[in-house]
Amino acid sequence: RGRPGRNGGAAMSVFVTRRIPVEGLRVLSQASGCRVQQWDSDEPVPRAELLAGVAGKRGLLCLLSDRIDSEVLDAAGPSLKVISTLSVGFDHLALDEIKKRGIRVGYTPDVLTDATAELSVALLLAACRRLPEAIEQVKNGGWTTWKPLWMCGYGLSDSTVGIIGLGRIGQAVARRLKPFGVKKFLYTGSGPKPESAAEFDAEFVALTRLAEESDFVVVTCALTPTTQGMCNKDFFGKMKKTSVFVNTSRGAVVNQEDLYNALAHGQIAAAGLDVTTPEPLPTDHPLLSLKNCVILPHVGSATYATRSTMAVLAANNLLAGLRGEPMPHELQL
Ligand code: DGY
Repeated sequence: RGRPGRNGGAAMSVFVTRRIPVEGLRVLSQASGCRVQQWDSDEPVPRAELLAGVAGKRGLLCLLSDRIDSEVLDAAGPSLKVISTLSVGFDHLALDEIKKRGIRVGYTPDVLTDATAELSVALLLAACRRLPEAIEQVKNGGWTTWKPLWMCGYGLSDSTVGIIGLGRIGQAVARRLKPFGVKKFLYTGSGPKPESAAEFDAEFVALTRLAEESDFVVVTCALTPTTQGMCNKDFFGKMKKTSVFVNTSRGAVVNQEDLYNALAHGQIAAAGLDVTTPEPLPTDHPLLSLKNCVILPHVGSATYATRSTMAVLAANNLLAGLRGEPMPHELQL
């Protein structure tokens, strides 16, 4: 794919690890001097193909499902100058190694904030109002009549919502939840963010207090060594029996065994997960046996428009990096 460039072709040789929205690929293939090699499939590139594909390239456009570590960087060799990930998350990139080799990194913040916040709200409502369970009842004949005590859940009105990570997506979630009649917003993270919190009158609290007081907990933080496994037995143990837990960030922020136990033993009311460990979650995973756990296949940013915009941004980040220009969104290493 792509066409040889005027300045020798290999000058901007790039490897794209998956089939991406056509608008993004077009940006690359129409760029002068850019030569594109692509793993043109909806399925992940096999590791061996990734290692072979990246060899001698100057640019790499990858996905959150590609682990970019020393092995990949060694396979690429010293020619690799830019990595552009089609994601806002960058926990799949070995940043220390990347930095050591002087490679620049582009990512796709902002453009997926609305779609991901929207999905977070949809998942929260699906979990707290038991939508998958209710739909199943309609299909399997469990709906016999209108019953006052049947299929009841929890609503947002007058509730306390705790947000773990009041960044771009966390704020967009709060902005959407506020009109549902939320009484109080709490948030936690690496430190208070008074400017972001002002719009929601949100209070910065320790993780423990957020767990104890929230009716809904929404996780929108990045996966880092600090946040890994943060939502564990201790955390779920402090939550109310009537509270609902939602995660649209990364699966590894949650200790899934502890979440399973909390849900199975009624320690918390329900959970909605758009992200899991691993992805995909094996179809026989214990969490899938629970009625009070709604699991989606990491579709937070999955609107046609958002994915197209992400692809164009990732392509433009890559090209700008290869040309030695400022990227539209560069990760500061
Ligand atoms: C990201 O971009 O990191 C999301 O998880 C998927 O869009």
